[in-house]
Amino acid sequence: MSSSGRGELLRAHLFHTPRNPFRNDKGLESYSDGGLLFRDGKVVACGDYAEIHAAYPEVPTIDLRGGFLLPGFVDTHIHFPQLHVLGGMGRQLLDWLEYVALPEEARMTEPAYACQTAHAFVNALAAHGTTTALVFGAHFAGATASLFDAAEKSGLRLVSGMVLSDRRLRPELHQLPADAYRDSTDLIRRFHGKGRLLYAVTPRFALSASEAMLEVCQTLLRENPGVRFQTHLNENRQEIAEVARLFPWASDYLNVYERFQLGGRGAVMAHNVHPSDSEVERLAASSTAISHCPCSNAALGSGLFPLGRHIAAGVTCALGTDVGGGTGFGMLKECLQAYLLQRLAPDGVLLNPGHLLYLATRAGAEALGLDEEIGDFSPGKAADLVYLRPPRGSPLAAVIEQTGDPDRILAALFTLGGAESVREVRVEGAAVYRSPA
Ligand code: GUN
Ligand code: ZN
Repeated sequence: MSSSGRGELLRAHLFHTPRNPFRNDKGLESYSDGGLLFRDGKVVACGDYAEIHAAYPEVPTIDLRGGFLLPGFVDTHIHFPQLHVLGGMGRQLLDWLEYVALPEEARMTEPAYACQTAHAFVNALAAHGTTTALVFGAHFAGATASLFDAAEKSGLRLVSGMVLSDRRLRPELHQLPADAYRDSTDLIRRFHGKGRLLYAVTPRFALSASEAMLEVCQTLLRENPGVRFQTHLNENRQEIAEVARLFPWASDYLNVYERFQLGGRGAVMAHNVHPSDSEVERLAASSTAISHCPCSNAALGSGLFPLGRHIAAGVTCALGTDVGGGTGFGMLKECLQAYLLQRLAPDGVLLNPGHLLYLATRAGAEALGLDEEIGDFSPGKAADLVYLRPPRGSPLAAVIEQTGDPDRILAALFTLGGAESVREVRVEGAAVYRSPA
């Protein structure tokens, strides 16, 4: 029998969060001499290497000691057409959109440019250890299709959709609601459920969507069960004031989406930096998830996310890099920034390494309604993983050499780890990225 038929047993220090560490103090599991056995892309066993090897002696071991196995990262908020505008400084959201992000997004009408950007984008996801991403596509069907094609070729899991807007941006980014309906329906037929791809209905935000456009979103969700939903919510005070002016009948920002039944399990709203208590409670009641984007919230000066209020109310919160308002593709860095900003926030949550790993992996799977399939190494789940090994001579290697304590090791990975530590990334057991070195 071939080795892939028998499966593979990876041996390394292994971390995962099969339970929510915000609700369970045994949420984080760590096996310092760990084993992860998978066959046909699915996890068969995860735990102490010696026990798994004894139970499955016929399965060949791949010795990865010296490094760390984590579930693949789940990035729940990122914009594909903003790859080239990462690093813009000095503006708040609405100015940044007008002068930095949207001019670049308008370039996605050019098929060759969109295709090249899509390939660079999915390569960057994989190179940073992200195996699943919920992605804002382009305002154009062709460019959004290029992203799905690139993701399919790469083997990554990708949930995305064409971005819908019919006002307040640049005219070339606006669609008529009827065209938005036709193009979205066509993309759903082509890509939703194809391999590892899923579709998400994606109105940019309430500010750029008329009631007719929000109604189209409602119709698309009703007509296509299983399709996900994503948008922005309560990111910036100026944005919130404009939304209140545009929708005078709405009690608050969330109520605009609620009016059109846009929310629920599988719906992810990004940011929510400035919610009322009522909005937080309603998000929890409807099982709508929030993508927390701490690098972006700091870079665009949006504010400090009230994570504690969300957790206390029972809202699922996961992490998003928000490229290009954020600062890059690294989910390790996003975890560090979440930790740092909670240290500064009034009533901030003191996050531990287990919380951070959960936010970067299993919480994202829950937000996307994929927690039966991915997010940790429980048997039966897909073997989506990232293998981290600190470069020799690096500060990260120096810290790890000094400690065997799992919490300190994981904390060091979040603090000092980046793409240079990502050695291999697999989805359903198959490599989607290997570092050149
Ligand atoms: N709100 C509407 N569009 C965007 C965007 O592209 N980035 C961020 N951070 N917020 C938005
Ligand atoms: Zn965004």
